[in-house]
Amino acid sequence: MSATTFFTSVNEQLQFVEQRMREQAGDEQHPDLKSALEHLLSAGGKRIRPTLGLLVGNMLGAPEEKLITLGASVELLHTATLVHDDLIDGALLRRGIPTLNARWSPAATVLTGDFLFARAAKLAAETDYLPLMKLFSETLATIVNGELTQMFSARGVIDRDNYYNRIYAKTASLFEMSALAATMVATEDEELRSSMKSFGYEVGMAFQIVDDILDFIGDQSTVGKPIGSDLLNGLVTLPAIYFAEAHQYDDDILSLPDGGWKDTARVQRLVDAIRESPAISQSLEEAQNSISRALNALGIAPACPEKDALEDLAKFIVDRKI
Ligand code: IPE
Ligand code: IPE
Ligand code: MG
Ligand code: MG
Repeated sequence: MSATTFFTSVNEQLQFVEQRMREQAGDEQHPDLKSALEHLLSAGGKRIRPTLGLLVGNMLGAPEEKLITLGASVELLHTATLVHDDLIDGALLRRGIPTLNARWSPAATVLTGDFLFARAAKLAAETDYLPLMKLFSETLATIVNGELTQMFSARGVIDRDNYYNRIYAKTASLFEMSALAATMVATEDEELRSSMKSFGYEVGMAFQIVDDILDFIGDQSTVGKPIGSDLLNGLVTLPAIYFAEAHQYDDDILSLPDGGWKDTARVQRLVDAIRESPAISQSLEEAQNSISRALNALGIAPACPEKDALEDLAKFIVDRKI
């Protein structure tokens, strides 16, 4: 059995999620907005967040229609954050194709992201369940606050707590929401809700740690986005933190908090050194520990094929190259 069979097991439902997302780019929109949405949606992406929600919801017997609506909502919210993130980072490549900001003005890019946020919120509302709307808006607020914190109080900062807070805000919060929302439409059982929330949280933390590792050792054409760019943007992620802890008196490391990350030659030296160092496997081990905790939280669920698929999804998170 291949490691990604879990995707196949929700393939049909994912097709409905795609359809639901595409419906949001209806006919009444401006033609340029329509083609931007088309560009974004046809680029694909792993669809890992809706897959997570579908599997959790199927496992707990949630109504399929609500899971599909939620899946489309979560993925559109994710897409909107990427549109804005790439503009903020000045990134020109995403999912193997040019970003909107690579081709379009910042103003048009911001507005397209806003449109996607609006549509994601509308879909969340279509579940007719107020607590889900609250969860949706809390999560969006967490992500936006995280991006702002990253922008103003994280450049060059070598600090574990700062790092964990950041990756929770920008990534794990949405995984947590995806797993929790799918549970909320299935059951009022608080223990299950809290366990599935933890599952989403741990998987999300591991996901971002691996994303940060891939920024050092990934293959750009496989990952589909620029590599080595975090440190160039002043973002000190887990591999750099491990490296800094082992080389506290390294001049390049010492320079980071004082703006040394703006020096491209320095950063390139550091990226090369980190790539070759134990910091990579130490970071991976930390992601694996998160996955172990996720599997532990999943233990509460009854044995079933969806549970097996969720275990595979959790393992895929650390094994992935994309
Ligand atoms: C990218 O997410 C942004 C992060 C949170 C790291 P994904 O790696 O899920 O991106 P797509 O949706 O597959 O393109
Ligand atoms: C993306 O995190 C976070 C959000 C979309 C809010 P990254 O900045 O690490 O994502 P990539 O690496 O650009 O995909
Ligand atoms: Mg980015
Ligand atoms: Mg990244």
